[in-house]
Amino acid sequence: MTEPNGRPSDDGQTSRENGAAVEQTRPSVPEPPGGDALLEVRGLSVVFDGFRAIDGIDLTVRHGELRFLIGPNGAGKTTLVDVITGLTRPATGSVRFEGHDLVGRREHEIVRMGVGRTFQTSVVFEQLTVVENLDLAASFRRPLWSLARRRRGVSDAVAAAMETTGLDALAERPAGVLSHGQRQWLEIGMLIAQGPRLLLLDEPVAGMSADERSRTGELLTLIAKDHTVVVIEHDMEFLRRYASQVTVLHEGRILMEGSVEQVRADPRVQEVYLGRARDAEAAEGSADVGPPVTTRAAGAGEDAVVGSAGEAK
Ligand SMILES: Nc1ncnc2c1ncn2[C@@H]1O[C@H](COP(=O)(O)OP(=O)(O)OP(=O)(O)O)[C@@H](O)[C@H]1O
Ligand SMILES: [Mg+2]
Repeated sequence: MTEPNGRPSDDGQTSRENGAAVEQTRPSVPEPPGGDALLEVRGLSVVFDGFRAIDGIDLTVRHGELRFLIGPNGAGKTTLVDVITGLTRPATGSVRFEGHDLVGRREHEIVRMGVGRTFQTSVVFEQLTVVENLDLAASFRRPLWSLARRRRGVSDAVAAAMETTGLDALAERPAGVLSHGQRQWLEIGMLIAQGPRLLLLDEPVAGMSADERSRTGELLTLIAKDHTVVVIEHDMEFLRRYASQVTVLHEGRILMEGSVEQVRADPRVQEVYLGRARDAEAAEGSADVGPPVTTRAAGAGEDAVVGSAGEAK
């Protein structure tokens, strides 16, 4: 398994390699009202060679939410997901999932605890069929030796993932021949097959056609019925159709949280985000406002969702 690649804490905080239940000693932020929190991020900072990619974030995601996370290129969205999933160590702060601190735990341990994520770049096995990819993902909770035995038949988890994502008809096709959209759905299906309670999706509709985006929006809505889902997304039209609660990140901080309407109406958001998008819109003759971003999504070479190159990082 990949080791966490983040830097150790540079402020003297303790790293916990084995996930032992060691209480954080830093002051705790009071629980927000109505607090059936599934994920609680408090005072989170990530420093890369002196650069604060995340700068003191507090974020609460409640059970059953479909939360959208937006922000310009370099805002820290992926880094936040990297910290939650154990890929990067924060300099300060805590990440609690169902009350358990995730900081210091290994990636695979966090997956086993019920947190699944997709990456901005695709990670399906191209030589394997759709059902084999799903089966491999579902096998993650089984002992290693059992992976050597090729199973006949399809487990309930795999069957459910295929049905949810609508990939049944493509079950025996190698993942390598899938369209970009189908590949993204397969990745989401692979997550579902692992039975997570929290899904973190990093730009799932990047590079998709309009039709694929609509289908993905419906898929997210379906998944959100029995999962808590955090979606990083740039496409404002997509947000308008499928988002309710939106968190806006900018330069490693939370700029605001609110409904899509509140976010779109907020002058600060317009300043850092939508203003530049309007320039892009004018340049492209696009039908809707979207931020001027590029993506590092799978299927490079396909059309970006919106806009031209973003700011230098
Ligand atoms: N491993 C790293 N080492 C150094 N700097 C990094 C590293 N990962 C991210 N950064 C920097 O941290 C900042 C936040 O990056 P991040 O990838 O989280 O942004 P993002 O909001 O996901 O942007 P995008 O919309 O382009 O995906 C950027 O300035 C980026 O260059
Ligand atoms: Mg990113």
